[in-house]
Amino acid sequence: MSVLKCKNLKKAYPGLELLKGIDLDIHNGQSLAIMGPSGVGKSTLLHLLGLLDAPDAGTIEILGQPVKKRDYPLFRNRHIGFVFQAFHLLEDESVLTNVLMPAKIGRLDRKSRALELIERVGLKGREKQLAKHLSGGEKQRVAIARALCNDPDLIFADEPTGNLDEGCSKEIQDLLFQTAWNKALVIVTHDTNLASACDKTLTLNHGLLK
Ligand SMILES: Nc1ncnc2c1ncn2[C@@H]1O[C@H](COP(=O)(O)OP(=O)(O)OP(=O)(O)O)[C@@H](O)[C@H]1O
Ligand SMILES: [Mg+2]
Repeated sequence: MSVLKCKNLKKAYPGLELLKGIDLDIHNGQSLAIMGPSGVGKSTLLHLLGLLDAPDAGTIEILGQPVKKRDYPLFRNRHIGFVFQAFHLLEDESVLTNVLMPAKIGRLDRKSRALELIERVGLKGREKQLAKHLSGGEKQRVAIARALCNDPDLIFADEPTGNLDEGCSKEIQDLLFQTAWNKALVIVTHDTNLASACDKTLTLNHGLLK
């Protein structure tokens, strides 16, 4: 089943034609790595696919439904989870509050799921600890639990191991694949180990994905 399909996505900034027509079809349970040199537009593409930003041209369908710009927040909250290189947690909030953030935005009651996810990422007993008092690896565990809180169909991860040492990267890699095994997973990475763990790798270069 196609979870996300995009056709002819284009994005330019003044003087910079970044994405020149991206076609992609991502299926349930599929993992895709996107690689490519720094500055080619990988994060930009992930932001478009994740409905965080709108393309200049092209279409995006989620679960067969065309998504209009005004519906981006709704689709994003229901269907998409994000993990970022810099974690992007609310530093002054607790582990539990961070994991529950997508549920709060969607006005859903997910406390028992959040507690179960915290246990799954190995942080049981740390629910009340403030995010700012966690190590980098622990922060990324919280971010993974947060990404899964609303039980999304698709997880996007932008260099999820980019700020972690080698051992910790492997742990986060394993955790991502274990927790998102039945989801579609799109990972932007410079980490060849992480890319080779994905079903498929595509490279973004000169505005095209190949
Ligand atoms: N809002 C913006 N306005 C203008 N230029 C932008 C904007 N966002 C990104 N860019 C430019 O687009 C280019 C691609 O940025 P992007 O972050 O997508 O690259 P990347 O492939 O993810 O790089 P890296 O591997 O270093 O993370 C960069 O030159 C960046 O400066
Ligand atoms: Mg980037």
